[in-house]
Amino acid sequence: MIDTLIPTPTDTAEPAVEERTPKMSARDVKVFYGAKEALKGVSIDIHDDRVTAFIGPSGCGKSTFLRCLNRMNDTIPSARVTGTIELDGEDINSAAMDVVQLRARVGMVFQKPNPFPKSIFENVAYGPRIHGLAENKSELEAIVEKSLKRAGLWDEVKDRLNESGTALSGGQQQRLCIARAIAVDPEVILMDEPCSALDPIATAKIEELIHELRGRYAIAIVTHNMQQAARVSQRTAFFHLGEMVEYGKTSDIFTNPREQRTQDYITGRYG
Ligand SMILES: Nc1ncnc2c1ncn2[C@@H]1O[C@H](COP(=O)(O)OP(=O)(O)OP(=O)(O)O)[C@@H](O)[C@H]1O
Ligand SMILES: [Mg+2]
Repeated sequence: MIDTLIPTPTDTAEPAVEERTPKMSARDVKVFYGAKEALKGVSIDIHDDRVTAFIGPSGCGKSTFLRCLNRMNDTIPSARVTGTIELDGEDINSAAMDVVQLRARVGMVFQKPNPFPKSIFENVAYGPRIHGLAENKSELEAIVEKSLKRAGLWDEVKDRLNESGTALSGGQQQRLCIARAIAVDPEVILMDEPCSALDPIATAKIEELIHELRGRYAIAIVTHNMQQAARVSQRTAFFHLGEMVEYGKTSDIFTNPREQRTQDYITGRYG
């Protein structure tokens, strides 16, 4: 055991699910921005019912890797991705994969809450509408209500659904963005530093929400906050200079890492 800054995580009672087919699996994923190799061959499995945290110093490739998982790097002209990424055994980069469908199945929540400049209702209703998930208005209303409830926001907004999403507080906006991601019934939710623009109270609410959501979705979260990684995740991957250095149970990564670089990072020697 080493001396770390991190509270000991409590995931020891968790059943082993490694035998199950992973929800997503990445093999030898490399990302180039022009000639620069930003990600140097990452292999990792992401499982259902579990939160996987990505940690590591700034610029090590966490966001780049997260964006591979729902092909958000497609939107960056200089980016080129190699290797394979599967969702339920299906290659997400194949020509047969519909990228709009993929991003509904693998939703994303960004660092800065980014509600559409539309009503609270419309922010959540938009996705289900374009994906044809509701037959009529009352079904759509039911999806909006369920999603806002699941995101822990319903009680705060139920009497103001027609007000603009951008008029909410930062923490409420982030929960609105989570409701928007949930509304299309995703299988995986990717979160890139979802709390870094929030105060401690709003952060605690999002962390609580992540706990509740993990029974339903596979969640991958990038965080700079190691206490947060220890609190919310069951698996942690440590990235450094474009490599995934170590991946394992969060409790092992924070108390008994195998690699010197992981140990240096979690003890605050760099990053
Ligand atoms: N759109 C881009 N064009 C060119 N280079 C990029 C682009 N996005 C990221 N990079 C480079 O790729 C590397 C990894 O960046 P990335 O944003 O994935 O890191 P990160 O681990 O998420 O960092 P942070 O913790 O600061 O968010 C960095 O060297 C970065 O400069
Ligand atoms: Mg980042």
